Order: sequence, then C-alpha cells, then structure tokens
Amino acid sequence: MFNLSGKVAIVTGAGQGIGKEIALQLAASGAKVALIDITDRIFDVLKEIKGRGGDGLAIKCDVSSWDDVHRVVGQVLERLGRIDILVNNAGIYPFRPFVEMSEQDWDKVLDINLKGVFNFTRAVLPKMIEQRSGKIINIASIAGSVVGFTNLVHYSASKAGIIGFTRSLALEVAQYNINVNAISPGPIETPGTKVLNKELYDQIRRAIPLGRWGRPEDVANLVLFLASDKSNFITGQNIIIDGGYTLP
Ligand SMILES: NC(=O)c1ccc[n+]([C@@H]2O[C@H](COP(=O)([O-])OP(=O)(O)OC[C@H]3O[C@@H](n4cnc5c(N)ncnc54)[C@H](O)[C@@H]3O)[C@@H](O)[C@H]2O)c1
Repeated sequence: MFNLSGKVAIVTGAGQGIGKEIALQLAASGAKVALIDITDRIFDVLKEIKGRGGDGLAIKCDVSSWDDVHRVVGQVLERLGRIDILVNNAGIYPFRPFVEMSEQDWDKVLDINLKGVFNFTRAVLPKMIEQRSGKIINIASIAGSVVGFTNLVHYSASKAGIIGFTRSLALEVAQYNINVNAISPGPIETPGTKVLNKELYDQIRRAIPLGRWGRPEDVANLVLFLASDKSNFITGQNIIIDGGYTLP
C-alpha cells in the first residue's frame, strides 16, 4: 500500500512486539531498515526480513546511552548512506507503586523512554536537515496523553514528555520539511504485555469498545502511513490508536 523503496529507516526496540512488527512492515514496503535493540533478538528479525526479500542491518545499542546512539547512527550512515525515517519505539513499563519507587526506578524509565528519544532524534537530525526531508515517529502511550494508570507514574511522565517533545520539535524542524509525530497506543498484545494475568487481560479486553486487544500490526499500519508521503501535511500530532478504550 505504501511504497518506501529507496528509503532508510531506523527502528528502536525492534527485537520484539510493536517495534519488530514496525520493522517487518517497513521492510515489506521497500525500506532498508536498521534494527536497534539492547537484545540479540534483532539478529533473528533481520534474518526474517532477509528471508522475505527485504534488506537492512541490525545493531545492538542501549538507547539511553548517547555514546552508543552516536556510534550507531554513524554506522547506519556509513552503511546505508541516508536516514529518512526514525521510529523511536524502545520503551519499558515496569509496574511499581509510586511510594515504593526509587530514584533509580525513575531514572531508568525516563532514561530509556524519554532520553532515548532525545538521543536518537538528536543524532539523526543533522542528516535529515541536510537532506531537507525526514519523518520522525515517536511511540508514546495513552498513559501519557489521555488517561492515568496506577503503578506507572514514571512511565506516564515519560510518555507525556514525548508528546511535548514532539510538538515543540515539529515547530523547529518544519522549515526543513521534516515531520515529527507521536502515536499513543492503547493496550496492545506484545511479549511485554503478555506478563499480565488472565483476569486483568480479560478486564482490559472488556473495556475496549472494539472488543479486542490491539495487535502490533495495528500500530505498524499507522507508522507506515506516517512514514509515507501520504502524511506530508501532518506534523506535531499525537494520534491515539486504542480501539476506543479512552472514549467512555
Ligand atoms: N504494548 C502496549 O500495550 C503498549 C501501549 C502503549 C505504548 N506502548 C509502547 O510501545 C513501545 C513498544 O512496546 P512493546 O509492548 O512492544 O514492548 P516490548 O517489551 O514487547 O518490546 C520492547 C523492546 O524494546 C527493547 N528495549 C528495551 N530497553 C531498551 C534499550 N535501553 N535500548 C534498546 N532497546 C531496548 C526491548 O529489548 C524489546 O525488544 C514502548 O515504547 C511502549 O511503551 C506499548
């Protein structure tokens, strides 16, 4: 549906779940995809992409480390020559009551979820500015943009931060023909959310008007649209994709 041939994309947190599906679909649409993750799983994802006739590379990296990210973006540019699409997807959501939250708990979530977005965006922007084009897509959450969730105060703060980041950066880089948008998914079935017990899983399903949990491909479809030139007049937005969960 979307033709991304000739484009180079970076996807963080591409080892599993939403990020993996985004990477697979970008590759299926013709983009060369740089798969970034802190785990080795990206090497299997790259095999899958190549097995389906796609192309890309996989580099291990901790998104919260500026040195790591700077090195990785240099490698992507050296090997693939350009960067057209950045999907900041890597994120963690460790449940913890706020009164038990340590400074380390807080810093870890903010460092990965929010500073990780700063690191990758800051590292790729000079090339996008030089190219006079680019698409930056940040995966936020309804927990940052619409609703509260108990035991996820640090997470909600990090995701709300991403939305403010998205709006302000969109203003700064619009002059270079660069679009910056956020996506706020509701509950999506991934290895990360599989840890929930069946009772909670069913309770959440019943609260979703469309009657099911979201799937990684639901989010990936929206990413493809925002990465394509069909969305060229959209910037600074936060798009909610939650099966109606936040409507009532
Ligand atoms: N699943 C949901 O219900 C849901 C809802 C709203 C938003 N989100 C957001 O979507 C994104 C993906 O969620 P998911 O459910 O697929 O998660 P997941 O836990 O299944 O996968 C996340 C991936 O990110 C990687 N990662 C973690 N820390 C990293 C780091 N420091 N550096 C590089 N990679 C790292 C992990 O290794 C993993 O492969 C996250 O930002 C999450 O907050 C998810």
